[in-house]
Amino acid sequence: MTTTEETIATKGLVMRAAQARWYDALAAVLTLGRDRALRDRLAGLAQLAPGESVLDVGCGTGSLALAAKRRVGDTGTVDGVDASPDMIALATRKATRAGAAVTFRVGTAERLPYPDASFDAVMATLMLHHLPAPLRRDFAREALRVLRPGGRILAVDFSAASAQSAGLLARLHRRGGVSRDAMVVLLRDAGFHPEATGAVGIADLQYVVAESPAAGDPVPSPDEPPALQSLPPMARPEWIVFAVLAVAVAVHLAIVGQLAARVAWSAAGLLAAVALLAFVVVHIFGGGRARH
Ligand SMILES: C[S@@+](CC[C@H](N)C(=O)[O-])C[C@H]1O[C@@H](n2cnc3c(N)ncnc32)[C@H](O)[C@@H]1O
Repeated sequence: MTTTEETIATKGLVMRAAQARWYDALAAVLTLGRDRALRDRLAGLAQLAPGESVLDVGCGTGSLALAAKRRVGDTGTVDGVDASPDMIALATRKATRAGAAVTFRVGTAERLPYPDASFDAVMATLMLHHLPAPLRRDFAREALRVLRPGGRILAVDFSAASAQSAGLLARLHRRGGVSRDAMVVLLRDAGFHPEATGAVGIADLQYVVAESPAAGDPVPSPDEPPALQSLPPMARPEWIVFAVLAVAVAVHLAIVGQLAARVAWSAAGLLAAVALLAFVVVHIFGGGRARH
């Protein structure tokens, strides 16, 4: 596992130390504890197989790279690159703790520090919206360059309409996103053959899988859309119901304990707390809804 401390010039939105430090905790809260399951789902979408070589671009804290390593196994290789030295330092520590042989390095998506045709798969999740449009195009060309012919790219991002949609994840993420149609156009214009697209099944995340053309491959018509293959929504964890009940009971006990003389108020308080928590769960944690 390697890392470098150099800071790299880019017009991308690079996450610094404070954001890096809280990134995994925030991901855990926003996915209601389903971050690992989400990463496994994404690695599945990338169709990673044992022995393959994989690059995760804009890898952040390395959660997806670690999921990729679980899939490609000891015979495969996983690299992660991010423009943030803080993210790379965190990812490297995480891989060390997990005993996973994943190589992380500082670098930019628009100028990938790898030779041509080095990888079977490239992944870019929640990264594209951090790049201005010209850099997205540079990244797509670079991804094609570092992929072997017949390799594939997985791109995942918030739907561009996320800021208006329901779900805590989307609500907190008002920087916008990159719609699946925009991802299809981006990849097709770079020379990829988009094969499948759809909802990831959590929040408003959308994906595109596209192939790097091999010699002799028929060129698909640009009018031919990729297959729409949305995944089923990820199940909301059952513990959330118990957590809500536990908080409601705790609030009730606190009120009863402190205001024993005002039992009527405590009942009203309990009702209000339950109503508030129900509102939070139904309306704010509505992140399981997915656009198909
Ligand atoms: C929202 S995070 C996504 C991290 C990770 N891929 C995930 O799915 O959780 C976006 C990442 O893109 C990185 N980034 C921003 N501009 C970049 C660039 N030009 N090249 C490489 N990474 C970049 C940020 O530092 C940040 O770690």
